[in-house]
Amino acid sequence: MLRLALLACLTTTFVVAHAPFSVIFQWKTISYNWPPEYSEKDARYHYIPENNPIAGIKLWKDNMYLTIPRWKSGVPVTLARTPSTPVKDERGLNITKPKLDAYPSWDMQLPGDCNAFQSVQSMEIDPQGRMWVLDTGRTETMGEHPTAKCPPRLVILDLDNGGVVLKEFKFPDDVARHNSSYLNDIVLDHQNGGYAYISDSGLEPAIIVYSLKDDKARKVTHETMKAQPDAVRFVVAGTNVIQSVNVDGIALSPPGPNRTLYYSPLSSFNLYSIPVEVLQNSSIIDVQNYVVDLGNKISQSDGMVMSNTGVLYYGLLADDAIAMWNTSTSQPFATGRRTISRDHLLTQWPDTFGFDEKARLWCVVNSLQNFLNNKVDVTQYNYRIISSNAMQRSYQYLPNNTAPELPVITAAAGQIRIAMSTVFTILLVFLAC
Ligand SMILES: *[C@@H]1O[C@H](CO)[C@@H](O)[C@H](O)[C@H]1NC(C)=O
Ligand SMILES: *[C@@H]1O[C@H](CO)[C@@H](O)[C@H](O)[C@H]1NC(C)=O
Ligand SMILES: *[C@@H]1O[C@H](CO)[C@@H](O)[C@H](O)[C@H]1NC(C)=O
Ligand SMILES: *[C@@H]1O[C@H](CO)[C@@H](O)[C@H](O)[C@H]1NC(C)=O
Ligand SMILES: *[C@@H]1O[C@H](CO)[C@@H](O)[C@H](O)[C@H]1NC(C)=O
Ligand SMILES: *[C@@H]1O[C@H](CO)[C@@H](O)[C@H](O)[C@H]1NC(C)=O
Repeated sequence: MLRLALLACLTTTFVVAHAPFSVIFQWKTISYNWPPEYSEKDARYHYIPENNPIAGIKLWKDNMYLTIPRWKSGVPVTLARTPSTPVKDERGLNITKPKLDAYPSWDMQLPGDCNAFQSVQSMEIDPQGRMWVLDTGRTETMGEHPTAKCPPRLVILDLDNGGVVLKEFKFPDDVARHNSSYLNDIVLDHQNGGYAYISDSGLEPAIIVYSLKDDKARKVTHETMKAQPDAVRFVVAGTNVIQSVNVDGIALSPPGPNRTLYYSPLSSFNLYSIPVEVLQNSSIIDVQNYVVDLGNKISQSDGMVMSNTGVLYYGLLADDAIAMWNTSTSQPFATGRRTISRDHLLTQWPDTFGFDEKARLWCVVNSLQNFLNNKVDVTQYNYRIISSNAMQRSYQYLPNNTAPELPVITAAAGQIRIAMSTVFTILLVFLAC
């Protein structure tokens, strides 16, 4: 018994050696490079600084792409971009709080226009530079005037081609309710014609399975995707958080046999897994026999990510910490998980992770406990991007660092129009300069 207690103590309290995280960017408030036609009176630029937290991060070539979900009012941009290496100021010092650029354009940020992004929390970039963007369709989901004007969508952009829209999929209401779903996180599987697995933390929590080859989606539900009442309350940096959030962070193991999806509701202490073979098999409706409860994480967590060597990274919200589990060792989750970084000031709410092409691991830390309690202090640093030389790549790559063969995505006829108008806008802006 004592040995067990000691073991638990060793695996939870101490921070084990891992390439350290350092702060690369930090902002008190997130702000934007306004377009030439900017006017303070124009409703589309309505901006309430404290309502603009960054949530998602993914990297491609020399840029990082960030999401600013429209949870409350006054968010002019929901998908943005900025260089991932700090630009230097005239004194040669790193600019660590850059203003963000609307991506791919200002037109694509227009609230109420269902061809534009309404609210983006997560996206993923595949090894060919195609960004798979989840648009929840609804805005002000935590605000005073929630809207549900547009359907939830998956939109694929070509980052090496000005962000043109390659493909769009509108989720039918029976897969993602247009008035109550919340598309939260996405991972990509390039095998068997291509799949995206999406967590829906809305009223009917589910893992949504989208098949690129069939251009169809289905939803898989299970009790373990629901918020657990005992995990609804926790404390971050002295602030109480009371939130009932269903299935939230998801992660996918690298390509290979027995490929596995990992998930956890935000309001849960447990990590669960399910084989992708089961998710892809639409004749399996009841997944009860395939869900595995891997055990207790110590704390609630938000986003997670897996590397191409099978290392799972996730945050520990109530401990201002980041943890990992190396699935390549034979140790099960309960004894194999390790806390690798803890900082009670700098790591308040590690939200989302992403790997870059140079094998570094990045994380957005956004002090959401303050946002959720309407007490963001704009005189303090609220948002940080930290990074660690983890020397691994994303789960989309094979363990030997090569990319698997990827499915071809061809633009449908009706979608080229949107793409052309984006190119046209870029041209116009270019000419205007
Ligand atoms: C500026 O940023 C670069 C890239 O992140 C980093 O290597 C360098 O140490 C930074 N310089 C300072 C003075 O912080
Ligand atoms: C949401 O939509 C469904 C189906 O369209 C409808 O049955 C339900 O009443 C709606 N719920 C709310 C809260 O509007
Ligand atoms: C995959 O799962 C099967 C059945 O559980 C098991 O026998 C096999 O060893 C697993 N393969 C790998 C590579 O883990
Ligand atoms: C799908 O699941 C059913 C029921 O378990 C099984 O009979 C069938 O072989 C599976 N199909 C595939 C393609 O794995
Ligand atoms: C994970 O475990 C494998 C096998 O023991 C090891 O080679 C690798 O370095 C470990 N990765 C990390 C990040 O600790
Ligand atoms: C990487 O691994 C894959 C799958 O095992 C294999 O097909 C490919 O040839 C390997 N590539 C290199 C460069 O080793």
